[in-house]
Amino acid sequence: MTTNDSVPVLTIDGPSGSGKGTIARAVADRLDWHMLDSGAIYRAVGYAAGLKDLDLSDAEAVARCAAETRIEFRAPGDGGETRVIIDGQDATDAIRTETAGAAASAIAALPPVRKALMDKQLAFRQPPGLVADGRDMGTVIFPDAPFKVFLTASATERAERRYKQLKAKGLAVTLTSLLHEIELRDARDASRTVAPLRPAVDAVVIDTTGQPIPAVVAEVLAVVRKA
Ligand code: DC
Repeated sequence: MTTNDSVPVLTIDGPSGSGKGTIARAVADRLDWHMLDSGAIYRAVGYAAGLKDLDLSDAEAVARCAAETRIEFRAPGDGGETRVIIDGQDATDAIRTETAGAAASAIAALPPVRKALMDKQLAFRQPPGLVADGRDMGTVIFPDAPFKVFLTASATERAERRYKQLKAKGLAVTLTSLLHEIELRDARDASRTVAPLRPAVDAVVIDTTGQPIPAVVAEVLAVVRKA
C-alpha cells in the first residue's frame, strides 16, 4: 500500500494498438488527472538496456538497469506530445520504433524487471487523480483502483492504427509486418507467467473496433462519473 492510496485511479489496460494511449491522454486531460504511460517505462528500459549492450534475457542485469535508469516525462507547455527523457537524453522517438517495442516486450516478461519498476509506477499516484495506461495496471500495480477499463480491438484494426501512427512519424513500415509483430507481441504479453495481459475481474471491457475516439472517451468517462 502506498501513502497515496486514497487518490483515485482509473486503470486503462489492453493490447497494443487498442487505443489506450490516445484514450488515456484524452480522459486524463478531461479529468485534469495525472497520467502514467507504463508502456513508455518498459520501452525506456528496453532502450537503455540496448544502449548498454545488455543481454535482454539476463533478468538481473536488466533489472539493475531498470532500477538505475532515470526516466522522466516532460509535458511541453504547448499541449504537444509528452517527451520521454532517459538519463537526461530525449528518447521520445527512439522508444516508439517497433524494435524498441519488441525489446520492451522481451524485458517486460522478466519478473525482476517488473518488480524493479513497481515503485516508479506507484509514485505516479498523486492528487487529484491518476489515469494509468498499461497491461497490468488494474491487475497488479493498482489492484485497489476504483475505476478499471480494458480496451480491445481486432488485431487487423490495431495494426492499421499503428501503421498510420508510424507512417505519420515518417517511419518505414508495412502493414503485414506490423500485423505479424502485433500478433507475436500479444501472444507473448498474454502468455507470460508474470502479470499476463488480461482484464481485471472488476474491469469494464470496451471493444473499440470501428468506434471513433470521442465515443470511446465518453464511454470511459462514464465509468468514472457513474461512481
Ligand atoms: O503499450 P506499449 O506498446 O508502449 O508497451 C510496450 C511493451 O511493454 C508491451 O509489449 C508490453 C510491455 N508492457 C507491460 O508488460 N506492462 C505494462 N504495464 C505496459 C507495457
